[in-house]
Amino acid sequence: MKLLLLGSGGREHALAWKIAQSPKVEKLYIAPGNAGTQEVGENVAIKADDFEAIKRFVLENGIDMLVVGPEDPLVKGIYDFFRSDEALKNIPVIGPSKAGATLEGSKEFAKGFMQRHGIPTAGYKSITSANLEEGLAFLETLQAPYVLKADGLCAGKGVLILPTLEEAKKELKEMLGGMFGNASATVVIEEFLSGIECSVFVLTDGKHYKILPEAKDYKRIGEGDKGLNTGGMGSVSPVPFADKVWMQKVEDRIIRPTVEGLAAEGLDYKGFIFFGLINVKGDPMVIEYNVRMGDPETESVMLRIKSDLVDLFEGVANGNLHEKTLEIDSRSAVCVMLVSGGYPEAYQKGFPISGIEEAKAGGSIVFHAGTAIKDGQVVTNGGRVIAVSSYGTNKEEALRQSFTNAGKIHFEKKYFRSDIGFDL
Ligand code: AMP
Ligand code: GLY
Repeated sequence: MKLLLLGSGGREHALAWKIAQSPKVEKLYIAPGNAGTQEVGENVAIKADDFEAIKRFVLENGIDMLVVGPEDPLVKGIYDFFRSDEALKNIPVIGPSKAGATLEGSKEFAKGFMQRHGIPTAGYKSITSANLEEGLAFLETLQAPYVLKADGLCAGKGVLILPTLEEAKKELKEMLGGMFGNASATVVIEEFLSGIECSVFVLTDGKHYKILPEAKDYKRIGEGDKGLNTGGMGSVSPVPFADKVWMQKVEDRIIRPTVEGLAAEGLDYKGFIFFGLINVKGDPMVIEYNVRMGDPETESVMLRIKSDLVDLFEGVANGNLHEKTLEIDSRSAVCVMLVSGGYPEAYQKGFPISGIEEAKAGGSIVFHAGTAIKDGQVVTNGGRVIAVSSYGTNKEEALRQSFTNAGKIHFEKKYFRSDIGFDL
């Protein structure tokens, strides 16, 4: 088979690494990819949301399957674009329809969906400038801290957590006034939930599902979970508190009702579902849905999937996922993200990177995130630069290996958190 994978981050390098191991794969292309994805496939200079260019490439190169890494093309309707095109309609797309992707594309829709299907989540109210007074009154009924979420996609920046009622009221007005443009024309106000978070992933064909290894990610820039939010500074899989009993609750109360709810509402969904969960006194609740894999969770989750991922994708495409086997590696897998100094605020790009081969020789799997090739040299090209992933018989052993190998990779102003996994 010939596959085309869309995206360019660490998640996509990890997906590409796993896809390329499949004996079913004759050729893997990544659009646009990064300096790492070209080690396992061929990069194509097409943006992940340039549908017309993707169409041309798919037809000219006889692509048999499209795998979508990031949410953007999904929310923009790449699935529907394929289904409604005479020449593309028989080519499977791994990723939901535009309607299905609304689970991530609209927080208001996601909350309503959970309410309709009895899926545990924080209490909320959806506010626009037309019912601002209602929003202010709802805030009065809540306890600090206050959670405000822009309804639409904001590249991970649309959630504010405010310590006082005054700030919450002020920020609510600013969000509605266009703080995140049209994305915050509707704001979801949520009850604050206290607990430890866990990312759970499934692959679904719209009817059946397979639960992939769960992971915990570390979102804050600083050690001890302090400072600004980032895309994610590292991940650990498995997550100790996500034991059999807890995961059974997740499946019964969250996963099954979600998959059945999508089908009941006629939302075409063939792809990954990412459940952002929080463990509230032993009970899982949904913080958010995403319609793709997590980054940097994928950089540990892919290490733990022993089965052929492309075979699973075929099950997704053909609606017989239940006939496929998903075998999971019992070892721990972790990832430590090396980032550009200054990230998640302003940072410089273009610094040469050295030591990648040494880190690999030290036993880690090195996934590229924000990298590029300049004059034959791998250079930094983003905030999150490289994910150093490792296996271990337990997370401590895996982490030790990632930290040691993270120390072997060098670029100017490199930073990483040396406390990934500290809270588990
Ligand atoms: P989201 O984009 O919805 O995942 O929100 C970003 C982050 O904000 C989450 O990963 C949580 O750490 C935090 N968060 C979101 N909603 C809540 C909530 N209702 N209670 C507590 N923390 C939350
Ligand atoms: N790691 C969280 C995310 O991918 O959204």
